[in-house]
Amino acid sequence: MDKNNFYSKPIYINQLKPEVINLVDLGEELQVVVIKRADEILVIADICPHMGGYLSQGKYCAKSHTLQCPWHGYIFDLSTGIFIENPNEIIWEKLRYPTEHFKPKTTPKYKLNQLEYEIDEDKIYVRRQSKI
Ligand code: FES
Repeated sequence: MDKNNFYSKPIYINQLKPEVINLVDLGEELQVVVIKRADEILVIADICPHMGGYLSQGKYCAKSHTLQCPWHGYIFDLSTGIFIENPNEIIWEKLRYPTEHFKPKTTPKYKLNQLEYEIDEDKIYVRRQSKI
């Protein structure tokens, strides 16, 4: 592993609580949400792809394996990182109508920024990205 390609501050696996949102500060102004399940560990930038809400303050549902942003309530599928639901749409549906630039039936293409990592014994090292 070329350490230059990874954040120097590791995530200690034994400090992660299972099936909850773990907030980890990697330094260099990067905080990540870490979700540990039996067979996987997800590392996600703590920035909602919609408008930058703090996902660490959102809700994780272990049953559906989803993460909900606290700012506008968007729900993301953690298996794919893809936006799957805006619970507010039920309210807005009655007020909106299609225009040339607004297509109500179009699903936004928001996707969580799931970060790559490597495990070295009991530590996780997160790979640097060019832009987060
Ligand atoms: S900022 Fe996350 S849903 Fe809007």
